Amino acid sequence: MNIINKIYNDLGNFSLEFLNAKPYPHVVLDNFLDEEFFKNLDVERIVVNQNKGTNFKTDVEKNKWASKNVELSKNISIIVNELYKDNFIKNLGKLSKIKNLFSTNVGNVDLANYHEMYDSGFLGTHVDHSSEPSTGLPHVLNIILYLSKGWEKSWGGATMFANKNGTKIEKIVDYIPNRAVIFLHSPFTFHGVTEIKNNKIKRSSIYVDYYSKNRNPYAHLNLDFKNVWFKHPTTFILPNFKDYFPKKNRVYLKKMIKHKIKAFLA
Ligand SMILES: [Fe+2]
Repeated sequence: MNIINKIYNDLGNFSLEFLNAKPYPHVVLDNFLDEEFFKNLDVERIVVNQNKGTNFKTDVEKNKWASKNVELSKNISIIVNELYKDNFIKNLGKLSKIKNLFSTNVGNVDLANYHEMYDSGFLGTHVDHSSEPSTGLPHVLNIILYLSKGWEKSWGGATMFANKNGTKIEKIVDYIPNRAVIFLHSPFTFHGVTEIKNNKIKRSSIYVDYYSKNRNPYAHLNLDFKNVWFKHPTTFILPNFKDYFPKKNRVYLKKMIKHKIKAFLA
């Protein structure tokens, strides 16, 4: 059984939409998983062991749990495995026109594929890790799949895309169950999750990242920012400059400055 909705068998059909999207290439795919499969997916009953995985409680990552180093539940594994398959990766190549795409084999060990967020959770504006952990090759695409059934838009938890400096939100992709969002990852594709409020259920999502064997993977793209890649850690942009001054946030200040210098020199 194909668990991805067959209307997405050829993502080449969405390539123009992806490439022309602002503030940077992305596409929103509703009813991403096969309707029947999604109907039978019991997301609410996925219980994670909060003592395993990683809990986040900082100024930039709040009330969030990520499945790093944790065995995924059966249903989550089925979906994640599908997103790691060669066929799907080829399809992403048709969508993005990025050459030599591959998925990492460190998967959920180094990079968590399943995420949960709770009341008042949010994820500040950031770019992810730039490189595949074992080869150092460029991180070029992300897919996020929203899973929580019955989620209401007013609870927040949308994915947001920011401008090239990460200082202004340019686009909000609401959290709608069974919606996937695929977006370019580059040193300038800042993104985050809007604050969650008054939610009655947890916000569950799947995240898979993709890499290119090409060290100049964005050369074919017409972007509103430099189409170059350079190495950087996960780098957050705090909402106000004064937010960098408390001692606990110095780590963000250092990373932000390094990122700015590299971006300038790139
Ligand atoms: Fe991210």
